[in-house]
Amino acid sequence: MCGIIGYIGKNHPKEVLVKGLKNLEYRGYDSAGIALKNKEEVQIIKSVGKVVDLETKINNSKLIDSNIGIAHTRWATHGKPTEVNAHPHQVGNVTIVHNGIIENALELREELINEGVKFNSDTDTEVVATLLNKYYDGNPINTIEKVIRIVKGSYALGILFNDKDVLYATRKDSPLIVGIGDDDNFIASDIAAIINYTNKYMLLEEGEIAEIYSNSINIVKDGNEVEKEILITNISSMDNDKCGYDHYMVKEIMEEPVVLEKTFKPYLDNLDLLPDLTKYEEIHIVACGSAMYAGVIGSSLLEEYANTRVYVEVASEYRYKNIIYNNKTLVILISQSGETADTIAAMRMANEKGVDTLAIVNVKTSTIARESSMQVFIEAGPEIAVATTKAYILQVGILSLLAYKTAYDKKLVDIDVVEEARGLPRLLKEVLDRRDDYLKIAKSIYEKEDIFFIGRKIDYAISMEGSLKLKEVSYIHSEAYQAGELKHGTISLINDGYPVFAIITDDKIKDKTISNVEEVKSRGALVIIISNEEIKGYDLEIVVPKINSFLQPILVVPVLQLIAYEVAKLRNCDIDKPKNLAKSVTVE
Ligand code: G6P
Repeated sequence: MCGIIGYIGKNHPKEVLVKGLKNLEYRGYDSAGIALKNKEEVQIIKSVGKVVDLETKINNSKLIDSNIGIAHTRWATHGKPTEVNAHPHQVGNVTIVHNGIIENALELREELINEGVKFNSDTDTEVVATLLNKYYDGNPINTIEKVIRIVKGSYALGILFNDKDVLYATRKDSPLIVGIGDDDNFIASDIAAIINYTNKYMLLEEGEIAEIYSNSINIVKDGNEVEKEILITNISSMDNDKCGYDHYMVKEIMEEPVVLEKTFKPYLDNLDLLPDLTKYEEIHIVACGSAMYAGVIGSSLLEEYANTRVYVEVASEYRYKNIIYNNKTLVILISQSGETADTIAAMRMANEKGVDTLAIVNVKTSTIARESSMQVFIEAGPEIAVATTKAYILQVGILSLLAYKTAYDKKLVDIDVVEEARGLPRLLKEVLDRRDDYLKIAKSIYEKEDIFFIGRKIDYAISMEGSLKLKEVSYIHSEAYQAGELKHGTISLINDGYPVFAIITDDKIKDKTISNVEEVKSRGALVIIISNEEIKGYDLEIVVPKINSFLQPILVVPVLQLIAYEVAKLRNCDIDKPKNLAKSVTVE
């Protein structure tokens, strides 16, 4: 979703801003822009489309001398992705970039129109710029404080005032960091934007205002100076390129064995490092997108083997429901970024009710990591492709270990999953190395427009992620269906050559799913079986190594990830940045 980078220092900001925007591309966006400032003027250049288009425009422009600037990638919320709506927005004395959504923007806009203001864009951001300009009294901090008391909603703001050679920033419910260089400083919506220039940064907290000079930074909240901790990131670089792969998506899938080993290591050495879930009567798993589908796998395992009641809910629904908690409820939040707005809201709701919250999260400094009561970190490293792959596998991995530990502690299972888990990265690598088999399947389906994924129980949970991955990156319409439910309507869509993926790994229910496969086969479907044992008689088949039920999904989902990838490639899609999607969804 939208990205911010800002710079103040001894150099011209152009290079830093363009590089920062490129490093933020992975978040998803549809237009971009920069503002450069010197004592006399502010120069703004914007463009619809990719950052390279903006870069060409910048290279073809005569740039002003400058040592301070802000830049933005915009993922349209208020108003279409046009150049006018792209950021930065300048109103009088003020130029800003903004991430988030101002919820009372319409109301404020009307009031301002009644006062005679004319708006150029459809954005909520121009409303904020107008207010900052209206209340500007020569004291930027006072002005920002005044305006953030008026606006409601979420915002990370980078702000320039014409008469100050200073960079200002503030935030609420949308992340923003302040990067610390040698003779220069930065603001950024995440560390990726500035990683080529510094690894030192501070996290800006809600309501704090940063006043940033080239060689000093003041942080103020409610009129008082705030002491900040300086953090060092261990991410080395975003442009460690694709390591010879065509896309980040496939590179990240291929990294799965290594990051799985790293994530599992401490827990396989000592399972008790994981939280004890036996004390909870009920677990709510709340997340968005693939993280929610990882939760469905976790719930399936916890219910089946650990006799634990689990509800899984998408965060955007959960946060508005009347959730009934008791003192033995645990809420598990799953999030790669730790910044997904709906998941944050769900966590805060549970926190306010005094319920324990456990975050399964990748970014250690994220809001969800910091505000949850317990954390288990996955070690995915940076994930750049918008469609998650390796982070999803690690989320499933942690949930599998949690389910096993809970079942074991409750004396409901006596198998040794830990020993098998040690061999999992090797088996996973074998699965990933069969790229030709996946390409063959991709070639048989890439020209189709509708595809089904069917399965029962945990195989249905796997189907949901397989279907999501395919539609996200290839734009083929696909649906996951409970195999037994197909005949209650959906089977009417099946005709000759209609692809149906059947996921069959659960021994207990295998024969039932095969009966459903027969039903679609007899109506002409092209049946593709993904299983852990040979099942003869269908059009195409992938057999993955059989392993205990806790770990089996980790050997199946990567097959579906790679098929989705190959299909998207055959269809010439923008695989790493699918249209309309954002990596980190920081607005509702
Ligand atoms: C976006 C991404 C998905 C991701 C979801 C949740 O929709 O495109 O890949 O699963 O957000 O993100 P999170 O960072 O909370 O895991």
